[in-house]
Amino acid sequence: MSDSKHLRTVARILPAMNTSDGAGVRLRRSIGCGEDTRLDPFLMLDEFSSDNPGDYIAGFPSHPHRGFETVTYILDGHMRHEDHLGNQGDLQSGGVQWMTAGRGIIHSEMPQQEEGRMRGFQLWINLPAKEKMKAAGYRDIAPNEIPVLELEQGGRIKIIAGEIQFNQQQLRGPIYGLTTEPLYLDVSLAPSASIQLPVDARLNAMIYVFEGDANIAKTALTTHCAVFLSEGESVKITANDKGVRFLLLAGLPLHEPIVQYGPFVMNTVTEIKQAIHDYQTGQLTAV
Ligand code: CO
Repeated sequence: MSDSKHLRTVARILPAMNTSDGAGVRLRRSIGCGEDTRLDPFLMLDEFSSDNPGDYIAGFPSHPHRGFETVTYILDGHMRHEDHLGNQGDLQSGGVQWMTAGRGIIHSEMPQQEEGRMRGFQLWINLPAKEKMKAAGYRDIAPNEIPVLELEQGGRIKIIAGEIQFNQQQLRGPIYGLTTEPLYLDVSLAPSASIQLPVDARLNAMIYVFEGDANIAKTALTTHCAVFLSEGESVKITANDKGVRFLLLAGLPLHEPIVQYGPFVMNTVTEIKQAIHDYQTGQLTAV
C-alpha cells in the first residue's frame, strides 16, 4: 500500500497557449508564456503538432542561445539541425537532441519534410550561474538509445533523462548526472490504467498531457495542459477510458535570479547586456 501523505497532488494547471516562434512555426506554449509561468529549473515548454506544412515548414533559421539547455524531442517528422561548431544531425521520430548552449551557440532547426505530420516538444532547462558560460555542446540521442519500460496493463515509459525505479527495475536514461538532475519521461497508459511513479522529493515536478485525459486524485487533467505538482515523493495518475500519454518532467530548482531576453537567459541585466553585445559583435561563441 502506498502512503498517501507522500503523494504529490495538483498545485497548478496551466493550459497551453497558441503562439508562433522561429520563422512562423505554430506552437502550443505552456510554461514560459511569462515570468510567473516557469517551474524552476524549467524555463519553457513548447509543443508543436500539425499535419499542415504551412504551420511548420519555415522552421527555426539560424538563431543564438546563451545560458541554458534546450531539449528537442521529435514524436513524428524529421528535423535537421546545424550549429556554428559544425555539428549537424537529423532528428528522426522518437529521437532527442540535448543541446547545452552554455556561453553561446548559433544554430538552426529546420523540418526536412514538405508534407505529413510534424509533432514534438522543445523544453528549455536553466543552467546554474556557475555553468552558464561553459563551452557549448550537444548530443543527438537515437530512438534506440532511449530505454523503454513496457507496463503490464499495456502502455509504456520511455526514459529520456534521469532514472526511475519501478516494479523492482531500475532504468536510467541516456542523459544523466546534470546539476539540475532532470527527469524526462514519456508515459503512455492504457484506458483506465493507473500508475504510481516515484519522483525524488527534492525535485520540482510537472506533467504535460498531450494525448487523452487523466486524473490525479480527483483533479482532471485535460490534453495540452501543463500541471505543476505539489511536493511529495511520488505521483499517481489514472488514465480515462481512452488512455493517456504525457510527459513527466522534474528537476532540481536552482533558486537563482533569472533575467531573460529572448534566447539569452542569465542571472543579471549586466550579463544580458553582455550577451547582446557579444552576439552583435560576433563574440557570443568565441572561446
Ligand atoms: Co534554438
